[in-house]
Amino acid sequence: MISPAFAHLALNSVGYAVAYCGIPFWRNDMKIEVSVGSVLESAASVGILGWLGDTDLPDSLASSVEAADFTGKPNQTVVVYPRTEGLPTRLVLVGLGEADKVDGERIRQAAASAIRVARGFGEATVAMGLPEGLVVAGAELGEAVAVGLLLGNYRFLRYRTNLSDAESHEIEAVEVLVGATELDAVSGGVATGTIVGNGVVFARDLVNTPGAEKTPPQLAQRAVELGEQVPSISVTVLDENELEAQGFGGVLAVGKGSDSPPRFIIMEYGADLEGVPTVCLVGKGLTFDSGGLNIKVGDFMTNMKNDMGGGAAVYGAMKVAAELQLPVHLVGLVPSAENMPSGRSFRPGDVVTTLSGSTIEVLNTDAEGRVILSDGLHYAQRYNPAAIVELSTLTGAAIIALAHHATGLMSTDQSLADALLAAGESAGDRAWQLPLWEEYREMVKSEIADVKNLAGPAGGSITAGAFLAHFAGDVPFAHLDIAATGWLDKPVKPYQAAGATGAGVRLVAQYLRDLVG
Ligand code: BES
Ligand code: MN
Ligand code: ZN
Repeated sequence: MISPAFAHLALNSVGYAVAYCGIPFWRNDMKIEVSVGSVLESAASVGILGWLGDTDLPDSLASSVEAADFTGKPNQTVVVYPRTEGLPTRLVLVGLGEADKVDGERIRQAAASAIRVARGFGEATVAMGLPEGLVVAGAELGEAVAVGLLLGNYRFLRYRTNLSDAESHEIEAVEVLVGATELDAVSGGVATGTIVGNGVVFARDLVNTPGAEKTPPQLAQRAVELGEQVPSISVTVLDENELEAQGFGGVLAVGKGSDSPPRFIIMEYGADLEGVPTVCLVGKGLTFDSGGLNIKVGDFMTNMKNDMGGGAAVYGAMKVAAELQLPVHLVGLVPSAENMPSGRSFRPGDVVTTLSGSTIEVLNTDAEGRVILSDGLHYAQRYNPAAIVELSTLTGAAIIALAHHATGLMSTDQSLADALLAAGESAGDRAWQLPLWEEYREMVKSEIADVKNLAGPAGGSITAGAFLAHFAGDVPFAHLDIAATGWLDKPVKPYQAAGATGAGVRLVAQYLRDLVG
């Protein structure tokens, strides 16, 4: 008998899978197809039907549902068993709320709410329909449906060995049924949304992976595999010897205390495209943040495997951009280290000479993200990019400022900031801007070095952003602090799950699409 792990490998439809610790890394996720039809004329065993709150149910269903039980408010679900020829055996009605308030986010959330209920029936395929004449239509509708379905369906079951068949059941395909005139536009949107949704899934899987299985060399290996899976992404990994030779003082200092050596991961897409803008993405790849010698206390360390969430967002955005074949030259840079206490650790009081030559006075080893990012931001400048967009789980202060509802955005260029804010809003991956005035940049100046890595606690997120800006030179620079949005102990939206959210992937992918669109 072959083990379940290998059975999964054999089933992988892309014909390519990588196993580490016996567990396949690539997922074979739910397919989403589009065809002409209507759920109310479909004999599917499971159907999903979005329904507006201000519309009466059709006669064929009205007799099965008490109007008071299903008002169609957003994300409300009810299961109906129509027992009528030509209707699905089970129909999941999902509320969309009032017609004039339906937007992409409503659609994403409704799709996510419904797919979880539908999965419970244990069938391989599900039909899905939406009311006609929605404000959101065509490609925009298809994309929102696909993103909502894929993210709502997301679970991280890699380490669960005790699940029943019912608990581990996965839907193989969702058939989205639309009117003939909508077919092409919705199909195109579903194709895009599938790429975007799977980019987020990819980032979530990386973040949810335990720190012990994604040390910097292992995280770098995931990038190499991404390059094999998506050949238009070329990947270069600098090991500790190359970091030493080239003077990556920030990454080396933070990585010193760990038994796992640091890495600098370089991904590039579109270098051969002509007349396209160059954008550098930089992501914090701290595979586990114990705080170092300033060790974290209480339960502040518990979820610190998520401290490579910025790096994961860069991986995900690279994958999405390459799969969408965007006309952009995209460089993804992920400095990666593990922050550990040991006899070799960097110390409070140490002065670190970074790749740029600028020096950092280390006042707290737990403010390590900005130290590794200094090298990434400097390295980015050799590409002469139009913009540097950096993502990191940088400060607990971002949670204090914005709770878990927005990524903190700081930028040296207002048009870049505006583009990112708009992209986050439309993608449902929101950011909110904080200032980076000169006064804040003064706060990170050091007496004995050029800058210091601690200036708090006042304005903790902003001084971290001001520190980073020091290393971005004159290139338009934006910092996205995803400390609050990258990880959720309790999900906020139906398309989130507890744990990693994949924050930043949709925001950056949308920014890039808007930039070149
Ligand atoms: N990785 C943490 C920030 C963090 C906190 C991410 C909570 C996700 C959730 C970062 O390296 C850190 O420890 N920051 C310190 C900075 C302080 C020492 C100036 C913080 O926020 O407490
Ligand atoms: Mn830290
Ligand atoms: Zn950290």
